[in-house]
Amino acid sequence: MKMSGTTIINEYKPQTRQYLFHTCPADEILYGGAAGGGKSEALLEDAYKNATKYSNCKIIMFRRTFPDLERSLILRSREKYDLRLAKYNESKRRWTFANGSIIEFAYMDKESDVFNYQGAEYDFIYWDELTHFTETQYRYMTSRLRGKQKIKRQIKSATNPGGVGHTWVKSRFIDVGESEKIHKPLPTEDEQKPGTRCFIPAKIHDNQELLNNDPDYLRRLESLPTKERKQLLEGDWDSFSGQAFDEWNKEIHVIKPFQIPSTWKRFRTVDYGRTAPFCCLWFAIDQDYNLYVYKESYKTGLDAVDQAKEIVSMTAEKIEYTILDSACWIKNQYGESIAETYENNGVPVELASKDRLNGKDRVHAWLKVHEDSKGNRFSKLKVFSNCENLIRTLPSLPIDERRPEDINTDAEDHAYDALRYGVMSRPDPRTFEPIESNAMSHIKTVDNNLPHALQDNDDNNYSWNDL
Ligand SMILES: Nc1ncnc2c1ncn2[C@@H]1O[C@H](COP(=O)(O)OP(=O)(O)O)[C@@H](O)[C@H]1O
Ligand SMILES: [Mg+2]
Repeated sequence: MKMSGTTIINEYKPQTRQYLFHTCPADEILYGGAAGGGKSEALLEDAYKNATKYSNCKIIMFRRTFPDLERSLILRSREKYDLRLAKYNESKRRWTFANGSIIEFAYMDKESDVFNYQGAEYDFIYWDELTHFTETQYRYMTSRLRGKQKIKRQIKSATNPGGVGHTWVKSRFIDVGESEKIHKPLPTEDEQKPGTRCFIPAKIHDNQELLNNDPDYLRRLESLPTKERKQLLEGDWDSFSGQAFDEWNKEIHVIKPFQIPSTWKRFRTVDYGRTAPFCCLWFAIDQDYNLYVYKESYKTGLDAVDQAKEIVSMTAEKIEYTILDSACWIKNQYGESIAETYENNGVPVELASKDRLNGKDRVHAWLKVHEDSKGNRFSKLKVFSNCENLIRTLPSLPIDERRPEDINTDAEDHAYDALRYGVMSRPDPRTFEPIESNAMSHIKTVDNNLPHALQDNDDNNYSWNDL
């Protein structure tokens, strides 16, 4: 870094994995794993390097909440960034560099906060503690990665496992294949041109500096309860503490779709959303009172009329009833409620139960794993493998730490809410004997082709030098 004849030396010496993080050319990079591995340090240094390397470079760095942002990234940037190169504006939370580059610090509490960035453009987007964010927030911001300059634009994140976004982060970066390799995921309906991705695991032993300075740090992590220790010390992504539905087992709860007999009763449930997704689930009930979620619609940006049209267009079968979110009975300025708009567009609706706590309890009762006399395990609730969003989000929901009998509503809970309305419209399964349905005996195969199971064949493995 040079400035008017003086050379400004950056004392930072990246560790091996931090170096990989700085040099990896993938479109999206996640540096994730053990706490104390040096992830936030790498983010701050990476942004600093890019701001000084390119002129007029636009950079944004996120944490989920303002207190976290202020305590960690902002404070550390102020200790780190050289005032001869850049000035900090406290009210704008923004560093402006002499070469015209900017680094902006931002938080994104609510899902709808993404719309503050409509029309904005960035060359680099950084996310710290990525699992604190929802996939909707992350995906929206990928559309803001653009600009006029010829720069290789990137989204670079750091995180520990756990948190409301654990599952989507895991499927986006960890499940795509081997770490420290660049993967090109297959296009999906949602993402037709997905960028290349790379996961760099952070290990506590990478950060010898920290272990030398604070020898007790390791001991403190080692004495944590098992799940927290696995997350924070070992950077383990397979389980996370505070998972609300840890009985979820895709081998048991997810089944391959089959033709539903016309005699089975069917109904629908809807969780309303516009900026956050709206979710409609279709349910069927067999002769033994097993419940099947057989179809879903999960879309962002539709108004009430278009939601109703979507539901009508996806339903040829006879539906007994449709349950809608209780918030939809409030009238708008024209005196019409969302419930009425639905009714006027071909979807007669009934009020959903507002009882969140009994709702969660009832979902557990339906998910409960039973064993029949032959030792086969089954649950009274079964989800068709095409219900990708329910399957993706339900196991990722964390409990609310302040109110452990409920889930944390910051998580992506729209499909869960629709599921909850559904089970609350049925009897409590604890009031009747669980019977594995005969109708199910021929459907034992589990569909392994679950969403996000990206094929890890050679065609998708790029070496860094290939790009
Ligand atoms: N390359 C490095 N050189 C010196 N100190 C480092 C380096 N990387 C990280 N540290 C220090 O180690 C500590 C933990 O790093 P941090 O980035 O907060 O870890 P994480 O975000 O992975 O939990 C911090 O005090 C940080 O300043
Ligand atoms: Mg950190």
